[in-house]
Amino acid sequence: MRELRDVALSDRTTFGLGGPAARLLEVDTAEDLVRAVTEVDASGEPLLVLGGGSNLVVADAGFAGTVVAVRTRGFEVFADGDRADVEIAAGEPWDEAVARCVAEGLAGVECLSGIPGLVGATPMQNVGAYGQDVSQTVVRVRVLDREAGLERDLDRDACAFGYRTSALKGSSRYVVLSVRLRLRRSRLASGLRYAELERALGADEAPLATVRDVVIALRRAKGMVVDPADADTRSAGSFFVNPVLTAEAHAALCARVERLTPGAAPASFPESDGRVKVSAGWLIERAGFAKGHAHGGCSVSTKHALALTNRGQGTTADLVALAREIRAGVRATFGVELVPEPVLVGVAL
Ligand code: EPU
Repeated sequence: MRELRDVALSDRTTFGLGGPAARLLEVDTAEDLVRAVTEVDASGEPLLVLGGGSNLVVADAGFAGTVVAVRTRGFEVFADGDRADVEIAAGEPWDEAVARCVAEGLAGVECLSGIPGLVGATPMQNVGAYGQDVSQTVVRVRVLDREAGLERDLDRDACAFGYRTSALKGSSRYVVLSVRLRLRRSRLASGLRYAELERALGADEAPLATVRDVVIALRRAKGMVVDPADADTRSAGSFFVNPVLTAEAHAALCARVERLTPGAAPASFPESDGRVKVSAGWLIERAGFAKGHAHGGCSVSTKHALALTNRGQGTTADLVALAREIRAGVRATFGVELVPEPVLVGVAL
């Protein structure tokens, strides 16, 4: 365990934003992670558990408590016939874990290639992309339950996964120690169901490695693969979740859009429960926030309207002002309330 003082959090978030942390503990083992969190809790100090910093907005004033930075490693495969369980430590970079699954012929997470951040964060917001999300493969999450003061296993039901949410999101009760995925032993990805991906592949099945390459290329074109040379990637991916509307609310939105622009319709994706997911990126652009629209040093990505970015000299205050402006504009134009996706520390929209 390493203890650091007065650490710039801007160096540890993909936004490149955030003031200093008074104290930061880097932990390399699950035992040290549990020990560090338990000690901070006992002292009554505020705690921030930091993974890859890829879904995090930290105030310019920083964090006046202890940050525990998860650096635990571990990847173990338990093969059984045509399936394999993989137990992955919370601190493993997610994309390295995906690359390894693809290389070892383990199917189920290949569409989740190119996503930044660490494994431990993936069940929290049920990370998803291109037709897969981790709730389809997570069978168990090992956590430290800070309320009970003990380690527990949460099975899939206890995780209560939903679109970009779970029982672990929005609560500081659980610290993820490791994640167990149940994958299929196959070199082929099948049952692909994301129109953009199928179009790019020209098929609904393909070798895992091909799917991985194509997904990364699609993401890169949207500025969704972290690249220091590309300011559009200085972001937290999607800044807002896509609103999921009741059929009535969706019909009202369509009528409103038709009145504003005859013949137009919001990009919409029906859910299995009758509700309809609408594209927040579409709403943002049509509300008048073009790609590149700026507020101080932050702007809408020039590649994807749903990503807000720090152009280099931005501050968290700029980012929050931009997000508020967009939320208010979408509300005024369409009557739809956008909800932010990243974890906000020391700031509120
Ligand atoms: N669109 C626009 N303008 C844009 C971008 C998109 O109008 O600038 C419209 C288009 O109609 C497009 C539709 O939005 O067809 C959907 O766009 P896209 O396929 O890029 O997906 P998304 O809904 O914007 C979601 C996830 C992404 C994930 C992609 C691909 C959420 C909040 N975001 O984005 O996840 O990579 O699908 O599956 O669900 C993330 O969560 O951080 C993230 C990057």
